[in-house]
Amino acid sequence: MTDTSTLEFQVTRNLAAKTDAQRDEILANPGFGQYFTDHMVDVCWSENGGWHRPRVQPYGPISLDPAASVLHYGQEIFEGIKAYRHADGSVHTFRPLENAHRLQRSARRMALPELPEEIFVQSLRELIAQDVAWVPSGADQSLYFRPFMFAKEAFLGVRPAKKVAYYLIASPAGAYFAGGVKPVSIWLSEDYARAGKGGTGAAKTGGNYASSLIAQAEAAEHGCDQVVFLRDGNVEELGGMNVVFVMKDGTIVTPESDSILQGITRDSILQLAADRGHTVERRAISLQEWRDGVANGDIVEVFACGTAAVLSPIGVLKGEGFEDVQPLGELAASLRQELTDIQYGRAEDKHNWLVRLSD
Ligand code: PLP
Ligand code: COI
Repeated sequence: MTDTSTLEFQVTRNLAAKTDAQRDEILANPGFGQYFTDHMVDVCWSENGGWHRPRVQPYGPISLDPAASVLHYGQEIFEGIKAYRHADGSVHTFRPLENAHRLQRSARRMALPELPEEIFVQSLRELIAQDVAWVPSGADQSLYFRPFMFAKEAFLGVRPAKKVAYYLIASPAGAYFAGGVKPVSIWLSEDYARAGKGGTGAAKTGGNYASSLIAQAEAAEHGCDQVVFLRDGNVEELGGMNVVFVMKDGTIVTPESDSILQGITRDSILQLAADRGHTVERRAISLQEWRDGVANGDIVEVFACGTAAVLSPIGVLKGEGFEDVQPLGELAASLRQELTDIQYGRAEDKHNWLVRLSD
């Protein structure tokens, strides 16, 4: 089994790459997840051969056997991580080992092979080596990497696949929510759950997102941007972001649960808040505590955070028969500023979170 720390990638250049003018037009207004760079990475895994055939190749459709087990049983995991262009033109990513380790945890839960962290980071470097011109330089813009892994063995029996593929694609990104940074409205899903005890909530696996779609559609029907999920009356997270509460004494509270995604943005923001002297509590917080806290002034701000969407204040929580306007404060915006200042190289990176991908 090849378990080398790095692999030699075979590079095939995209002869139909976008022209500079076409790329510039896309980068002027990339939105989120709509456009993709000229190349992609793929690495194969098999039970006998381990990780092998690492390639960078032209971005394009993947050919799969119709019996590939991912199409039937959803054995799939993914990550989300960004590259940021600094004022001097260099390109950096943020805490990639955290994403590599989370991909490994997701792999264990979904009975997929663990990608060595060195290969994960190398895949980011290999893609940037070809597509560095796709990292935008506009305000709040970035290149969003989407690493993912799936079962490609053609077999309809239900067991972990013996053939798996790891891919990395990248997409230039502007604001995740149309309208930029403004408070978001949240719909409380009481009919649908995202995850439960012993389930896959802590893994970044497609099924969790598939199961959130109907609730997200319900949110949209009620005029809300996002949906928040509960488990046993406690707040879990949004469809694609973690939730953080600011109490009137400055304490910061965020849900602790074995069925939510351990967000890297949240972890970073909580570290920055702790550096400023805030007490940080990771504990269960019930819907009742949220609603009462907003009503009696104990909670002074609520925000959501994640790689794609960065950090957005929550402006309103709506549910069946109620609508609670949320208090807005200064902390969310100031933590967002501090985090993005580090990511974009405007402030000192005290925790050594940045990893240079290109000069
Ligand atoms: N929760 C869910 C369900 C997510 O999809 C994400 C996004 O990745 C997050 C939380 C935030 O995680 P991170 O900050 O690592 O992007
Ligand atoms: C991310 O923030 O990276 C995510 O994966 C969220 C996704 C729903 C876009």
